[in-house]
Amino acid sequence: MAIEICSLFSWSLFCSTAVLLAIFLKHRKDCSRSETKLPPGEMGLPWIGETIEFYKSQRSNRLFEEFVQPRIAKYGKLVISSWPTTSVQLMGMNSIMEKQGEQHRCLRGIIATTLGPAGLEALVPKMCDSVQLYLDKNWNIRDEISLYHSTKALTFTIVLECLLGINFEPGTLNTFERVLEGVFAPPVSFPGSKFSRAKKARQEIKEMLIKVVREKREEMESGLGGDEGILLSQLVSGMIRGEISEEEVIDNVVLLVFAAHDTTSFAIAMTFKMLAEHPDCHSLLLQEHVDIMNKRRPEENLTLEDTKKMKYTWQVARESMRLFPPIFGSFRKAIADIEYEGFTIPKGWKVLWTTYGTHYNEEYFKDPLTFNPSRFDEPIAPYAYLPFGGGPRLCAGNQLAKLNILIFIHYVVTRYNWSLLCPDEQITMDPLPFPSHGMPIKVSPKSY
Ligand code: HEM
Repeated sequence: MAIEICSLFSWSLFCSTAVLLAIFLKHRKDCSRSETKLPPGEMGLPWIGETIEFYKSQRSNRLFEEFVQPRIAKYGKLVISSWPTTSVQLMGMNSIMEKQGEQHRCLRGIIATTLGPAGLEALVPKMCDSVQLYLDKNWNIRDEISLYHSTKALTFTIVLECLLGINFEPGTLNTFERVLEGVFAPPVSFPGSKFSRAKKARQEIKEMLIKVVREKREEMESGLGGDEGILLSQLVSGMIRGEISEEEVIDNVVLLVFAAHDTTSFAIAMTFKMLAEHPDCHSLLLQEHVDIMNKRRPEENLTLEDTKKMKYTWQVARESMRLFPPIFGSFRKAIADIEYEGFTIPKGWKVLWTTYGTHYNEEYFKDPLTFNPSRFDEPIAPYAYLPFGGGPRLCAGNQLAKLNILIFIHYVVTRYNWSLLCPDEQITMDPLPFPSHGMPIKVSPKSY
């Protein structure tokens, strides 16, 4: 009997091995038959390919780090970041968007330290103070406000003062805005053209920042230290260690203001527009904030933990950014011939990726033109929701933007009654989108 069981077992083992071997050989044959057409890479296991590795990294939310990045490192890249000439001239040759490879990783590392969990925790009270101070100073004395201009002024203060730790003179915002106006303008330099005004403003900013950076360096070298939580100190430390140059520090300060400014303000403005058009969503969102407010003393600031409770608010903001992406996409350059669906994108050609391809696609977002924050109750397919981009160039400030949006909404909805004064206002693109009249709203302080 024992011999029979043993031979039955050996027979099953033999059969399964034979089947697996046959599958494996067929898989190899299939692969080699089409070998000349295949891009570089592994076929993985028969039938399932590399699906297991893909799902494992996806489940731990490390799809890029564990699946995509190692393959890019092994088989090479097809595209690199490549912005228009005017943007590069105004942001500077040394900004993160122009850096590739190791230099890009080094700069991202410095920025990520400040924008990591500990850095963000320390930023929350500073941001709360800035928002409240701004609202008290500007919203309590008027009943008509330009929401878009308020959010622009506030985002500027948050990036320059809270994130970078730079105190600025009145008028500095205006100088930065003159630079930003030229970022996508034609590169024509005649007196009065957008581009030459922007270049002049860029020179003024450079002079102002050289002073700031040198003062910070002196302060840090003489042992007075910098505030480690402040991004300027991190950048200057990198400079003292010899990892980055003074030019790199300056270009990246300008880039950070550019990256945060029109984007965050537009995201906030469109979130308020959506709330005005969907009163049921507004009620749900308001309840979330009243609950958070009721758990704190009136003078107490919000904490990072509080912002984590603003789940519905974040869904509303995400849905607003899906319908109205603050950045339409970005620029790449092919560094090898790319074969795609039978076409060739020749090496050296520019490639533009856009958010619209997936954000408005029924395949990824059911009923895509409808505003429905609850769609984010369900997970979204990887690389379908892209207001912050994706992969190695994923927005380095996405968590800061999230906090900026949530904190601003909290203080506005809990402290003011507000309504849109121009509900049919057009959105203009130049080339970034903005509300054509600055989104005027009527406000009055709430009495509790
Ligand atoms: C709602 C607000 C924001 C949106 C929609 C947004 C969107 C984006 C997008 C789409 C990219 C990728 C560009 C590409 O693929 O080439 C990007 C990159 C970047 N963003 Fe943001 N951004 C926002 C706010 C911010 C803020 C507040 C900061 C920091 C102060 C910031 C810093 C950056 C930086 C440094 C990069 C370059 C990353 C790299 O090249 O490695 N952004 N952003």
